[in-house]
Amino acid sequence: MLFNILPTLLEIFLVAAILFVKYDPWFAIITFVTLAAYIAFTLVVTEWRMVFRRTMNDMDSKANTRAIDSLLNYETVKYFGNEHYEVARYDEQMRQWEVSAVRNQTSLATLNAGQSVIIAIGVTLLMLLAADEVARGKMTVGDLVLVNVFMLQLYMPLHFLGFVYREIKNALADMERMFRILNQNREVQDLPDAPALQVKQASVRFANVSFSYDPTRQILHDVSFEIPAGHTLAVVGASGAGKSTLSRLLFRFYDVDDGAILIDGQDIRQVTQQSLRAAIGIVPQDTVLFNDTIYYNIAYGRPEATREDILRAAQSAHLHHFIASLPLGYDTMVGERGLKLSGGEKQRVAIARALLKNPALLIFDEATSALDSKSERAIQDELRGIASERTTLVIAHRLSTVVDAEQILVMEQGRIVERGTHRELLRQGGAYAQMWALQQQQAQGEARAG
Ligand SMILES: Nc1ncnc2c1ncn2[C@@H]1O[C@H](COP(=O)(O)OP(=O)(O)O)[C@@H](O)[C@H]1O
Ligand SMILES: [Mg+2]
Repeated sequence: MLFNILPTLLEIFLVAAILFVKYDPWFAIITFVTLAAYIAFTLVVTEWRMVFRRTMNDMDSKANTRAIDSLLNYETVKYFGNEHYEVARYDEQMRQWEVSAVRNQTSLATLNAGQSVIIAIGVTLLMLLAADEVARGKMTVGDLVLVNVFMLQLYMPLHFLGFVYREIKNALADMERMFRILNQNREVQDLPDAPALQVKQASVRFANVSFSYDPTRQILHDVSFEIPAGHTLAVVGASGAGKSTLSRLLFRFYDVDDGAILIDGQDIRQVTQQSLRAAIGIVPQDTVLFNDTIYYNIAYGRPEATREDILRAAQSAHLHHFIASLPLGYDTMVGERGLKLSGGEKQRVAIARALLKNPALLIFDEATSALDSKSERAIQDELRGIASERTTLVIAHRLSTVVDAEQILVMEQGRIVERGTHRELLRQGGAYAQMWALQQQQAQGEARAG
């Protein structure tokens, strides 16, 4: 504005004033009309063009999303032989981008051509007028040259103005996108001046918790339970019952719709998320690793840990033998999302990582589901030792792994349908007893086959 637009406007004003005072008023009138036409045309066409710019941005981001998605899922693409399908989808997106990019360019050409035509008409009229005045002897040839030079002087910066305006509008269209992202609200926000969570023994209480990811479908119905400090609670139930949801709520990835979750008597909505998450360790159901070394991925649990700590954690998670068998040992790269490790190996990295974090509260979400029975039993012993001195929430599919939990909850479609110890539940002869009988049968079948 200061160095480009204001000086240009001043120049235009001065030239018009000189023309108006020293020559026929028609010179000034033609100049002003040309200017007005030029500015109006530029504004209207630039506004019209913005649509193409926006579509172009949208298409660009859609094509990128699609490309990234199919690259991340390249194994799935190959399993189903859908390379051509993916290429076609990407191509379609790029084609749409191309159409809008060409429209963007064509409209730019239209804008430039229109601007030039308007100026050419203005200059022609002025020169005709000046030539006429010279012919009639009212102006000298010197005056004609002077008017011509003025015109050139005037219209050159005008082109520049058009350029600057266009650039600003383009930048605004691009920035719109950025501000849309910046304005996205965080789903879960800390209260202003929220204090840090004070963890002493880490007792956990779910008080009448109801929750839905989506208002149309409630996932948890009035769930209440308590894990006394230092004790272990097991949650079992069919997949989709809402077990993992409990751990996501405990981490406060979402806020509960109704009821409350308390750790050592503090509502987790009242404390900072940072302090809450620092207090909880989890071995999640699906472990995803960073595309870095095994060492890095274990150390992620506590980046400032010493090498000894990390080796000890790996030992506890029964990873040491596996790592020793690798030519590069701890420096082995694990691939994107950890795809160069087997499911069980990834799970053990996740266990090591959680142990390294050494939190007051531990969650095992089907933490050993990807292990074979033998490794599972070995790790289970280790986990039991770790859990014995901590508050622990164990989510399990294999009931044999939770038989000695102090309390077992059976969940069905977001409700707790039974609770008690293993013995009590068996005696009740309900859902738990049925699941137990079924799994025992399977185990015997496997043993016989073995
Ligand atoms: N982010 C999400 N958005 C919507 N629905 C979800 C989301 N995560 C899980 N669900 C749904 O919530 C239900 C419970 O999921 P989850 O707690 O993961 O079950 P599980 O007991 O197998 O661990 C499932 O029916 C699932 O489809
Ligand atoms: Mg789950």
